Amino acid sequence: MSTESGKTVIRPLTAPIEGSTHVPGDKSISHRAVLLSAMAEGTSQVTGILDSADVRSSIAAAEALGAKVSLEKQPDGSLAGGITGWGASGPAEPAEPIDCGNSGTTARLLMGMLAPWPVSVTVTGDQSLQNRPMRRITAPLMKMGVRFTPEGRETLPITVCGTKSLKAITYDAPMASAQLKTAILLAGVYADGTTTVNEPAESRNHTELMLPEYGIRTTAAARTASVVGPSIPAAAEVVVPGDPSSAAFLVCAALLKRGSSIQIENVSLNTARIGFTRTLERMGADIAVRHTGSEGKEPYGIIEAAYTEGLRGCEVPAEKIASIVDEVPVLALVAAHARGVTVFRDVSELRVKETDRVAAILEGLETLGVDAWIDGNDLFVEGQPGLRAEQGSVFDSKCDHRLAMTWALVGLCGPVPIEVENFDSVKISYPEFLNDIERLTR
Ligand code: S3P
Repeated sequence: MSTESGKTVIRPLTAPIEGSTHVPGDKSISHRAVLLSAMAEGTSQVTGILDSADVRSSIAAAEALGAKVSLEKQPDGSLAGGITGWGASGPAEPAEPIDCGNSGTTARLLMGMLAPWPVSVTVTGDQSLQNRPMRRITAPLMKMGVRFTPEGRETLPITVCGTKSLKAITYDAPMASAQLKTAILLAGVYADGTTTVNEPAESRNHTELMLPEYGIRTTAAARTASVVGPSIPAAAEVVVPGDPSSAAFLVCAALLKRGSSIQIENVSLNTARIGFTRTLERMGADIAVRHTGSEGKEPYGIIEAAYTEGLRGCEVPAEKIASIVDEVPVLALVAAHARGVTVFRDVSELRVKETDRVAAILEGLETLGVDAWIDGNDLFVEGQPGLRAEQGSVFDSKCDHRLAMTWALVGLCGPVPIEVENFDSVKISYPEFLNDIERLTR
């Protein structure tokens, strides 16, 4: 790898990727472990926390609001230690705005966490986060009694003015979003009565699975989750499994790089997160999933994948998109190597991620010479078995970590070097991505 003026040259792997490996801790579960521990009374013990820029945003936010965070770097690169929360005394009002960096999860969960306290806190973020929609969060929280200033503002920076007399609500979410669901449930912990979120499709359920660990009465079923308040979370112990969304990049690399065969251990097998394994199976990929245990209510296990000749296109229905929402870019790249057309139905939520991922996928696939298009909200990719990039092609990550890793696979698994702009955005979720994949070729 070499970097020049924001572009990183990604060279072909010198051998197939082989052997057993781990991926860093799950980003979604790490955020929740840090933030729920910050809300709790007492000292929680957390292990396997992902050390990445996004999770650091949650840690910094927790500290700015008065939680005591004593996490230490472990030999495996994760963070572990104690977090003493504000419990019944509530968060301190920081003098400065809280900068959530690139992390939508931090910003949106914070809004729910601040809702029940008589504080005014300004939440902001980097340029990408300042472009992301926040009305989806402020609208339900306003129904619960929270005020936001400036009034009517739909993007960060926004000031949250919380209230001790939060109303419990039942909310029919207009989109399947775990961040939205979580913001409402976290506020609902303190509201008098039952707060319920109904979803049009199933989004990831880590919050519902974790809240009972902190002593919160929670019920959850397909597309609905409730908490019973008012309550104060009590300190808990959380062990974070590996991140399936990071594992997806290693899996797809193994599928595309001839001769490869890998095993990823201790990875979360939460069904709301491993939709990509099902999509790849339907494309004919040599992939298998084995459960080996669970931490709390979170299942984990092993994902195995091997190079597959003769991948074929498939159709992903709209109700499954939430289970692959972060994996669509890399799945679109795999689809570009498959025979036939792959359709991802209703990818509209991808337009409001760290960047417009639909536009970015179309642009990158065009650079690769692949025919891909959007019809309504459906994404189509016409595969080209035997696809090769042109030497020195430049792919723009748009400062989006998932796109940086997707386009890096073009160089790593193909025959010629390519360049990725702003590749360093991998620090958001998987800082050691290149080292990990290169280690598997030795
Ligand atoms: C996340 C939820 C997802 C996902 C994001 C992390 C979370 O977004 O894209 O990377 O931790 O709750 P949605 O809010 O669209 O589900």
